[in-house]
Amino acid sequence: MTETATVTLNEPVHDNGDSHTNGVHHANGDCQTNGDLQDAFVDRVPISANTPELVPGLVDQVASLGKVASVRDHTDRTTLLEAARSLVYALETPRGAMIRYCWSQSTLYASVETGVDLGLFAILSKDEKPKSAAELAKATGADPVLLARILKHLCAMGVILETGPNEYRRKGISISLSLQRYSDAYPCMTNCITSGILALPAQLKKDGYTNPSNGKECSFQRGFRTDLHFFEFMKENPEAASQFNNHMSAYHQGRPSWMDVGFYDVPSLFSNVTQDDVLLVDVGGSVGHDLSEFRRKWSDAPGRLVLQDLPDVIAQAKTGQLHPSIEAMEYDFFTEQPIKGARAYYMHSVLHDWTDDNCRKILKGLVDVMKRGHSNVLINENVIPDTNAYWETTSLDIIMMADFASTERTEAHWHQLVGSAGLKITKIWSAQRGVESLIECELA
Ligand SMILES: C[S@@+](CC[C@H](N)C(=O)[O-])C[C@H]1O[C@@H](n2cnc3c(N)ncnc32)[C@H](O)[C@@H]1O
Repeated sequence: MTETATVTLNEPVHDNGDSHTNGVHHANGDCQTNGDLQDAFVDRVPISANTPELVPGLVDQVASLGKVASVRDHTDRTTLLEAARSLVYALETPRGAMIRYCWSQSTLYASVETGVDLGLFAILSKDEKPKSAAELAKATGADPVLLARILKHLCAMGVILETGPNEYRRKGISISLSLQRYSDAYPCMTNCITSGILALPAQLKKDGYTNPSNGKECSFQRGFRTDLHFFEFMKENPEAASQFNNHMSAYHQGRPSWMDVGFYDVPSLFSNVTQDDVLLVDVGGSVGHDLSEFRRKWSDAPGRLVLQDLPDVIAQAKTGQLHPSIEAMEYDFFTEQPIKGARAYYMHSVLHDWTDDNCRKILKGLVDVMKRGHSNVLINENVIPDTNAYWETTSLDIIMMADFASTERTEAHWHQLVGSAGLKITKIWSAQRGVESLIECELA
């Protein structure tokens, strides 16, 4: 049997010549105890494949999906990718996973952020031509020895392509990293998210492992050594805020959107809406990327589109690529809603930032101005399923726990929250695993 052979708890561990782990009779005639077998099993686990029994089925699945999947089709590509990822997890040893989690993720992160700061990806991605480490060092102004080390790691981790000794070429991810909208994710996480997550274990221990429920006294404050709530902190740190807004606008890209045909019944919003009426208010709509997308996809839609967010965010929106027909309005959603009787009040990734008490205040502010039989609330958020939750959603849930003392919500939680604010869910529209649903609500 090889080091990585299948071992299950019920199976005897075969002799590998190691007197500690072999399952043979001792000279005194005593058979090794189950405890010894258990020890031998535990010794081998870290260096054996995680779930070897799943490997053959996953290999078959990847092979058969690979024959029919179109990598241009979102669903085909993600199904194949998930199968391939499951295969990697099944094959990887716990030792390998430990090194991946503990070494590679933080070092990759640091290398990418350094590359972003140096403008490395923009230079590398100018054209298809391979570029030497020395050439890239000269262009970025970095020490050639330092940059060569970083480039090697970026290549080892799949961010750039090696074309020869110390020579590299761009690929999809390096091209994307040359776009600020995407590259801002990295300094954004460093400047306002990750320290809160890293402080989570200590914070949870201090709080006796209770579910966080106060966004002004959670892991975020510990990690960033501040008394401020996340959004107050953003006000004090405009660079981080701008990076956060760019990250928000990039992370939804390339996935099914509720405005796409076949997801939600968008034309149902148009009845009884004149050009002077407000069709959609995007409450906490950041720099207006969702409304701009709506205008692009539904250019004939009647009525006005109104973007609402805090003053600094609205200022950034006005300097960006906001569609000229969109009205941008400074507004704090804990104050009275100035737009009365709109056809729909839309909120995307807003309520997940807040505890239930705060969400109720935000929702009640809408209830106060909704017109019965006309207005609805559209909440574009994750609905955590009972099983098979997607890793992007669960990651976000832990981010919410750490930095906001808030949560991604289950269907039951959504019903209870919305109901407690005087609304009822009419339908939850969903497209696919890991993509936010559209939770349609009306006055109860
Ligand atoms: C997680 S972001 C989501 C942004 C956008 N809806 C999206 O999905 O990309 C939350 C947004 O809520 C805004 N926000 C936070 N507190 C607010 C408040 N009191 N009033 C209005 N907007 C607020 C933030 O500025 C931010 O743009």
